[in-house]
Amino acid sequence: MAEGLNIVRVVGARPQFMQAAVLRRELLRRGHREILIHTGQHYDEAMSKVFFDDLGLDRPDMNLMIGSASHGAQTGQMMQSLEQYLLDHRCNAVVVDGDTNSTLAGALVAVKMHIPLVHVEAGLRSFDMRMPEEVNRIVTDRIADLLCAPTETAVSNLEREGLGSNVVRTGDLMYDCFGRFRDRASKVVLDQMNLEPDGYFLATVHRAENTDQSERLGNILQALTALPLPVILPVHPRVSGKIRQFTDRSASLGALRPVDPVGYPEMLALESGAKCIFTDSGGVQREAFFWGKPSVVLRETTEWREILEGGWSKLVGWRQQDILDAYDYFDKHCPEIPSQVKDDIFGGGRAAERVVDAMETFLP
Ligand code: UD1
Ligand code: UDP
Repeated sequence: MAEGLNIVRVVGARPQFMQAAVLRRELLRRGHREILIHTGQHYDEAMSKVFFDDLGLDRPDMNLMIGSASHGAQTGQMMQSLEQYLLDHRCNAVVVDGDTNSTLAGALVAVKMHIPLVHVEAGLRSFDMRMPEEVNRIVTDRIADLLCAPTETAVSNLEREGLGSNVVRTGDLMYDCFGRFRDRASKVVLDQMNLEPDGYFLATVHRAENTDQSERLGNILQALTALPLPVILPVHPRVSGKIRQFTDRSASLGALRPVDPVGYPEMLALESGAKCIFTDSGGVQREAFFWGKPSVVLRETTEWREILEGGWSKLVGWRQQDILDAYDYFDKHCPEIPSQVKDDIFGGGRAAERVVDAMETFLP
């Protein structure tokens, strides 16, 4: 077993801070060292600092402060800064997770510098190459030395692509994070928003394929206005301007209540009290399931097949009537989600342990 690993961890976007928090804790607990590098992809206080505070995650050792730009410019600038950092600092491995531009930048720099690369949340596929995330994750999986797959479906995807020899099924770090923070869900947010448990819905929309096409976004927002209870919509900054235009134009917002992005304990509380969750987010789809809530997935594909195939989510795309029909269905058939099923699919809250076990076994 390797001892005293020296890991460089690259993060940049909101859901990566949750995964980083649980993995870092386990690495440090075992006496390893982790240099945390924030690319600066997310930089608003409500998209970044708030999570470090809420999760008790140490400040990044370095913030590259790259910020927003086109895919090429953003990824290229991240690569340039990361390369410089890694030229000056030796490490046993670079660890990236998920499928953002920060993931891709970290992965490409590591492989070109012959530094072992670990991909956490490996093997997810939407089979839609128009999604930037699909490109990022396929490239990262192909060049990584160790692939930590969250689910059985992710393992199968990697095996089918001939990458099976580098794969370990670890479970999902988001499930670990949920397990650690669920009791800290900040229920006071329900009082502040004047909400009763099961008396409202929660929605999030931020995928490029939804937000960059006005017909799609318009249909989704129209559907949300027509629901029979208030719909809390914490607005991701990439879509805030468009939602403002929609609300300015609409005579009545109906059920829709756009709010600023919220912190993680507030989001957990909003999820736990919602009657049903409408989302195109990967993280929120899973958290709905962890809370035992049905979700209406505002996409045409999902990487989280187990939730869909178990009947706990419905994949509806963006058309108004399809969204409302899915809600009608869940209104009549509220699915049970036994705890054992959650544990079996997502690794029982031991993903961080298994990722670190795999690193200790595989890294030089
Ligand atoms: C990124 C990821 C996506 C992930 C999401 C998590 C890529 C290609 N996409 O999408 O997979 O699901 O993060 O939330 O990496 N902006 C701000 N303030 C911020 C951050 C962003 O105003 O702190 C605005 C900017 O206008 C920016 C836009 O949001 O151009 C998009 O941000 P970006 O990080 O490029 O992509 P996300 O949509 O956040
Ligand atoms: N989240 C949050 N506040 C919000 C919206 C989301 O804390 O206002 C959390 C959510 O609970 C989940 C993660 O952010 O843990 C999901 O991030 P996002 O939807 O931005 O990205 P994705 O998971 O789709 O990559």
